[in-house]
Amino acid sequence: MNKTVLITGASSGFGKATVKLFHNKGWNVIATMRSPEKENELSALDKVLVTQLDVTSNQTIQNAIQEGIAKFGHIDVLVNNAGYGAMGALEAASEEEVKKQFDVNFFGLIAVTKAVLPGMRQQRSGIIINVSSVGGRITFPFASLYHATKFAVEGLTESMQYELNPLGIQLKVIEPGGYRTEFAGRSMSIFGGNGMEDYQPGFDQFMNMFEHWPMSEDLSEVASAIYEAATDGTEKLRYPVGHDAVQLIGTRHQMDDVDFKKMMVAQMGM
Ligand SMILES: NC(=O)c1ccc[n+]([C@@H]2O[C@H](COP(=O)([O-])OP(=O)(O)OC[C@H]3O[C@@H](n4cnc5c(N)ncnc54)[C@H](OP(=O)(O)O)[C@@H]3O)[C@@H](O)[C@H]2O)c1
Repeated sequence: MNKTVLITGASSGFGKATVKLFHNKGWNVIATMRSPEKENELSALDKVLVTQLDVTSNQTIQNAIQEGIAKFGHIDVLVNNAGYGAMGALEAASEEEVKKQFDVNFFGLIAVTKAVLPGMRQQRSGIIINVSSVGGRITFPFASLYHATKFAVEGLTESMQYELNPLGIQLKVIEPGGYRTEFAGRSMSIFGGNGMEDYQPGFDQFMNMFEHWPMSEDLSEVASAIYEAATDGTEKLRYPVGHDAVQLIGTRHQMDDVDFKKMMVAQMGM
């Protein structure tokens, strides 16, 4: 029997690349996205169900899971990939901005996870793969909300192992570095200093660094790491992906908090 994976945020970037890889490997794929009517490349693929799922809408989550199970019978792997970055000084973030960042990156991930768990518990098997970030292990300036959601995803995932491993369910975290997707484009919410002069020079320096970050074009590296996490049969939890992620996480381990902050400030020219 073919295995089935459900992927959130499959309209672009890592999600779309991951749909294609699992499809090429012969899996059934439930490719979920907010606006499936805009997608025609994935919907042309055999054994790929393109359907609507907005991680902030419980109704669409339930519908997508029911539709997927009706078509493929079961869900073996969940890839919680949907997410975006909110960039700016915390004080300048509106309440709506704060809430939305957590609604999508954290509460949305929890809602989808809770919706697949009954099936996984019943079958006593399953793998939940959460797309975190190198930003779930280290922080950059002016991205506190984004980091808060990704640090939360890391802690959530690590702790859930204790309650779910005995039921046959494994947990995984993917930690990509910088990749050229819609993340730094249409997906990003940039509020900066929101007109607050005190924050503007630092924010401009951060954006300058961010715009010159050597983003990798090879999204297959991330898709491959997700596929590895789904199939390697190990208890390995964290999968850093990309030379920048591996290097930054390694450096963070070797430095104390003060030295790491000084290195970051120096790199930003702040
Ligand atoms: N690219 C990087 O450098 C990088 C590095 C580390 C981690 N990440 C993480 O990787 C994940 C995927 O991002 P990406 O780089 O592939 O960027 P992307 O191309 O912008 O993809 C993000 C996806 O999330 C979807 N999404 C946003 N809000 C949603 C919602 N409420 N419900 C369902 N889907 C929603 C978007 O859907 P729409 O098309 O409808 O907007 C899009 O499909 C994110 O969790 C991001 O934080 C990215």
